[in-house]
Amino acid sequence: MNQRDLIERAKEHLGKLLESQFARIEKMKETQDFINYDNLHPIIISIVGGDGIGPFITAQAQKILEFLLQDEVKSGKAVFRVIDGLTIENRAKHGKAIPDDVLEELKQCHVILKGPTTTPRAGDPWPNIESANVAMRKELDLFANVRPVKVPEQGIDWTFFRENTEGAYALGSNGIHVNEDLALDFTVTTQEGSYRIIKAAFDYASKNKINKVTVVTKANVVKTTDGKFLEVAKQVAKEYPEVEWDDWYIDIMTAKLVDPKRRTQFKVMVLPNLYGDILTDEAAEFQGGVGTAGSANIGKRYAMFEAIHGSAPRMVEEGRAQYADPSSIIRAAAMLLEHIGYREKAAKLQKALDICGQYEKAVAITGRSNGATGAEFAQYIMNTLSDPQLEQKWAEYVNRK
Ligand code: IPM
Ligand code: MG
Repeated sequence: MNQRDLIERAKEHLGKLLESQFARIEKMKETQDFINYDNLHPIIISIVGGDGIGPFITAQAQKILEFLLQDEVKSGKAVFRVIDGLTIENRAKHGKAIPDDVLEELKQCHVILKGPTTTPRAGDPWPNIESANVAMRKELDLFANVRPVKVPEQGIDWTFFRENTEGAYALGSNGIHVNEDLALDFTVTTQEGSYRIIKAAFDYASKNKINKVTVVTKANVVKTTDGKFLEVAKQVAKEYPEVEWDDWYIDIMTAKLVDPKRRTQFKVMVLPNLYGDILTDEAAEFQGGVGTAGSANIGKRYAMFEAIHGSAPRMVEEGRAQYADPSSIIRAAAMLLEHIGYREKAAKLQKALDICGQYEKAVAITGRSNGATGAEFAQYIMNTLSDPQLEQKWAEYVNRK
C-alpha cells in the first residue's frame, strides 16, 4: 500500500475511534446519580470465580460474606448469585472478553465479587482478546478504581483513586498498526471522565476529613491529555475549598513513595489509568505485595470488587490451588460490604484480616502444602470475627512498633 492509502486507512480508523468516544461521553452525561443500595430489596451480589486460582480463593471470600450477611440472606435483603463462564476457555471459545450471556447475567446484579481472570497476550495459546477486567470496567462503566494501602506501623495510609475507563486503556485494543514501520496507540482524556474521578477523590477526602488530595500526572510532557486532567483538577478543587491539594509528576511521585520521610505525607491520590495501574502495584508492595491488596471498581450503577493479583495458572497446574492465599479477595469482599452500607461488618472483617495476616498469624499460608489451605485461613478469619478479643487484638496490632 502506498503512503497516501495508509494515511487514508488510518484516518478512517481514527474517525471510528472518535465516534466511539463521543458515544461514550454521551452515555456518561446521561448517568449522573449513584444507585442507592438502601432502596434495593434484594441487593444481588454476584460471585464470579474467574480463572486459575480464582474460583478457589473466591469461594473462600463468598463463605465469609455469607457468614457476615447470614441475617440479611435469611430476611431476603441480600441474595448471592454465582456466575460461571468468565473463564479463559469460555472467553476464547466465544472470542470475546466477556461472552454476551455472562455480560447479561452481570447486568442483572448490583455488586460483583470477581476472582482474577487471565489476560491473554500475543504469543499465548489463547486468542489475543481484551482483558476481562478492562472490558468489565468499560461495559459497566466502573470509572473509579479505589485501592487502599495501609501499613499502620509505618504511618502509611494511602487511598488511590485510579481513573479506570480512559487514558491508555480506553483504546488499548484499538491502536493503529499503520504498517510494519509504524504503530500508534492512543490515550483519551475527557472532561466528564476526569471530573467524575477527581470529584470522587475530593469527596472521599472531604467526607473522611483527610483533607489532602494529590493529583498525579505527567502534564509537563503529555501536555494535552494529562494537561486536561490537571486542568479539571483545578476546577474540582474550587468546589472543595476545605480540601488541600497538590500536584505531582508521576516520575518523582514513584520515587517519593519509597522515601520513608516523605511518603507518609500522601493520603488520597488521584491519577489517570496507566499511572494508577503502575503506582498501585508499587504501593501494594509496602503492605506485603499485590496478593494482600483489594480493589474496588465503582460506577454509578454497578460496582465490582476484585483481587489485584493474577490467576496464577501454575499453582493450578502443580495442584496447589487450594493453598492459594485468599487474603486479597477477602479484602475486596470487605470493600464490597462497606460499599453497600455494611460499614461495621466491613471494618470488623478488615480488622480480622489484619490480625490473622499481619499480627497473630496463627495460620500461615505459604502457597504450598507446608502451609495452610485457603479454606483453613477462611475458617481462621471467621473464628477471629467471632472472637470477643477482636478489638483488643487489633489495638495491639496497630500500636505495635
Ligand atoms: C490491574 C491489572 C489489570 C490492569 C490487567 C490485568 C489488565 O493489572 O487491575 O491493575 O492493567 O488494569
Ligand atoms: Mg495492575
